[in-house]
Amino acid sequence: MTTKETLIQKLKDKKAKVAILGLGYVGLPLAVVFGQAGFHVTGVDPDKRKIASLSKGESYIPDVKTDDIAGLVKGGLLAATTDFSILKEMDAVSICVPTPLRQTGDPDMSFIISAMEELSKHMHRGMVVVLESTTYPGTTRELLLPKLGTEHSLTVGEDWFLAFSPERVDPGREDWTTINTPKVMGGITEACGEVAAAWYEGAIQTVHRVSSAEAAEMSKLLENTFRMINIGLVNELAIMCEYLGVDVWEVIDAAATKPFGFMKFTPGPGLGGHCIPIDPLYLSWKMKSFNYNARFIELASEINTNMPRYVVNRVLEAMNDRGKTLKGSKVLVLGAAYKPDIDDVRESPSLDVIGLLQKKGAAVEYHDPYIPHIHHEYDGWHMDSVTDMMKSVKEADVVVIVTNHRVYDYEAIVNAAKFVFDSRNATGKLGKNNEKVERL
Ligand SMILES: NC(=O)c1ccc[n+]([C@@H]2O[C@H](COP(=O)([O-])OP(=O)(O)OC[C@H]3O[C@@H](n4cnc5c(N)ncnc54)[C@H](O)[C@@H]3O)[C@@H](O)[C@H]2O)c1
Repeated sequence: MTTKETLIQKLKDKKAKVAILGLGYVGLPLAVVFGQAGFHVTGVDPDKRKIASLSKGESYIPDVKTDDIAGLVKGGLLAATTDFSILKEMDAVSICVPTPLRQTGDPDMSFIISAMEELSKHMHRGMVVVLESTTYPGTTRELLLPKLGTEHSLTVGEDWFLAFSPERVDPGREDWTTINTPKVMGGITEACGEVAAAWYEGAIQTVHRVSSAEAAEMSKLLENTFRMINIGLVNELAIMCEYLGVDVWEVIDAAATKPFGFMKFTPGPGLGGHCIPIDPLYLSWKMKSFNYNARFIELASEINTNMPRYVVNRVLEAMNDRGKTLKGSKVLVLGAAYKPDIDDVRESPSLDVIGLLQKKGAAVEYHDPYIPHIHHEYDGWHMDSVTDMMKSVKEADVVVIVTNHRVYDYEAIVNAAKFVFDSRNATGKLGKNNEKVERL
């Protein structure tokens, strides 16, 4: 049997040993899905606290149940370590490390590079490697292939196999999860795609193969660019509606009654999270090497990035209309997470809104049921969520709703507050034509 046939057989028999590099929002659910499918999975992550939790059978990701982790750890199907040397025993490795931006807005590839360098020390014949981290088109072939294959005189598609498969997990979502969200898979060669698909098909319901790693990389960037641009469009619509004195939420609801050719997006205080504000910029960065300016991305990014400032200015004007200055006022920001019902503050517009309100001289507090503390790395401030939320609601001169968590009782908040600025239409009908509420 060829190396490829032997590996495919091992994968189909679930005898292949699986490693997941990076046990965060993407890697941990993936490790669980492979473990539940019957693979022996080892998660490798330099974060000692994560490894300690998993080794005790405890989850630290809200979407992943502690019972599931405990069951897999007890059954010997899931182990976790900080020791990369276990990679020498592995047959199949998935890389799920972060791909943030540098402060300059350029891709920060340092996590992929360090994971790749660790893996490179233990590369051997008969391995399949899949990169899951969202990145610019060409990363798998230009960065991983030389380091993991060529340097070891291993021929890709014959001695070892390399593919890209973008992760699509939507944290907090219950209907579409890692197991039932179709997975795009693109190999460096045809054989690479075949082996990687054989592995993932053993655990994930639908694997959609494309002809190259680049097509898979680009498909992820299309998905996220599509969202970013449409959010930019409705954010600009909200700004235009304010000029026109038209209720943007009513307009969007009306357009959404069209059964075809329209997809509903809603405006808000700006983009957040690890994906939508960042990934399209990986593409525009790459295009600069062709002297090509990705105009839609740049424009949407500009509009979205300005939304926290727009929201704060609207709060300032609304206070002014009520004969108050923002300077010296007490402001309670509701929600720090970048979207409802999750505990993730990465790139959250809430941090920008808080910072801008502070710069205007407001005394700012925040509340988030899922985020007890915020540490703003770049601006160097630290805040704790208020403990008695309704007391702070009553005391604040304005309550600014930034994240529309479902657990909030908006009726009680509006009743208790002096004034509410609602950037998410969380108050809905209650907020409309209500003199205590101003909506975006
Ligand atoms: N979070 C999402 O919703 C989401 C969705 C789709 C795609 N993605 C993409 O998936 C990738 C991972 O995102 P995430 O949200 O899981 O990030 P995360 O920060 O939650 O987790 C990444 C993990 O990688 C670990 N890590 C860092 N360097 C490492 C190394 N050298 N070797 C092994 N592990 C290392 C970190 O300690 C961390 O535990 C990113 O490229 C992201 O863009 C994320």
